[in-house]
Amino acid sequence: MILVTGGAGFIGANFVLDWLAQGGEPVVNLDKLTYAGNLGNLAPLKHDARHVFARGDIGDRAVVEALLRTHRPRAIVNFAAESHVDRSIHGPAEFIATNIVGTFNLLEAVRGWWSALPDAERAAFRFLHVSTDEVYGSLGPADRPFSETTAFAPNSPYSASKASSDHLIRAYHHTYGLPTLTTNCSNNYGPLQFPEKLVPLMIVNAIAGKPLPVYGDGRNVRDWLYVGDHCAAVRAVLAGGRVGEIYNVGGNSERKNLDVVRTICEILAQELPGRDYAALITFVEDRPGHDLRYAIDPAKICAELGWAPVETFESGMRRTIRWYLDHAAWLAAVASKEYRQWISLNYAAGMA
Ligand code: NAD
Ligand code: TYD
Repeated sequence: MILVTGGAGFIGANFVLDWLAQGGEPVVNLDKLTYAGNLGNLAPLKHDARHVFARGDIGDRAVVEALLRTHRPRAIVNFAAESHVDRSIHGPAEFIATNIVGTFNLLEAVRGWWSALPDAERAAFRFLHVSTDEVYGSLGPADRPFSETTAFAPNSPYSASKASSDHLIRAYHHTYGLPTLTTNCSNNYGPLQFPEKLVPLMIVNAIAGKPLPVYGDGRNVRDWLYVGDHCAAVRAVLAGGRVGEIYNVGGNSERKNLDVVRTICEILAQELPGRDYAALITFVEDRPGHDLRYAIDPAKICAELGWAPVETFESGMRRTIRWYLDHAAWLAAVASKEYRQWISLNYAAGMA
């Protein structure tokens, strides 16, 4: 058994689905089901006894301790987090509560249980923490990509809260010997991503004929990785990563935001012809403190664990766009009142 947290969200659900499809051990999935968590993401597992869902908070020690006692997982993969930068700007408190205090409580519950395990089980146990490249801050156009030794310089409440959690993981390994692993990954895209993030928001708005809101001048750069490749990286690190180590995960696919949006418009024009999607591009007020550029050097995970992305930016984006075109019911289900309120709050200034 493995314990996955946040497995009803975008990356966590993709991970659980891939893990079980590939014959991995049963999964107990702890998720609070915030606005970002969606049991519909796990619908293919509804009658699959290898998946046990538990609704709860990673910060609730009693819940975590009960799951550990009952299921005795040989590993934990911690995806649970508040994950959207713009939401962290409008309301940072939840990010501190889950990403910092929640991770701390999860670590404490795990430490108590793990330290009482028999020697062999204690040595074999792994706590894999899934984190982001945003902890390293912002790069200039000519700077070298982030490596595992780049100093942390988080700039948003989201990235600061993730950086704090990464530090806690490091400290629990260093101080208590907890067998931790950390991955710091670049921007993911793919099926099941909540349409608040750049890629799904643009796809969904373009299909609906709504404006495509590009922040500032659209020249900010992100490195993009298809979610299935991220899931493969997490599996590789869990299987073969060296305890206490950090692995940077990236797609070698740096793109300016405007180019990402233009590519989406071009692929959509092929998949759903008849409209000029690029004409919907609208420049809106910039995000406060908007990081200019993220880029990842994935040399360590490639060399040590033989991982490499399978999808190119174009092939992954086409798969993603086809998935959204084929899943209108999923989209209708996530377009809740809360979602519509968020869109009007975040884009009030630029697209009224
Ligand atoms: P997401 O927002 O789609 O999903 C987060 C999930 O965590 C949701 O199911 C939510 O219900 C759950 N959750 C939130 N608070 C919780 C709590 N207190 N207890 C239990 N469950 C809780 O996020 P995502 O995009 O799937 O990201 C997953 C992880 O990967 C996060 O830790 C994020 O920081 C990291 N990450 C994301 C990206 C990206 O591009 N999306 C890139 C690198 C790293
Ligand atoms: P996002 O998907 O929120 O991820 P992150 O901020 O974690 O990198 O945003 C990706 C990039 O796209 C980022 O530079 C902000 C920009 N962006 C827009 O231009 N318009 C939007 O509506 C959104 C959501 C993001």
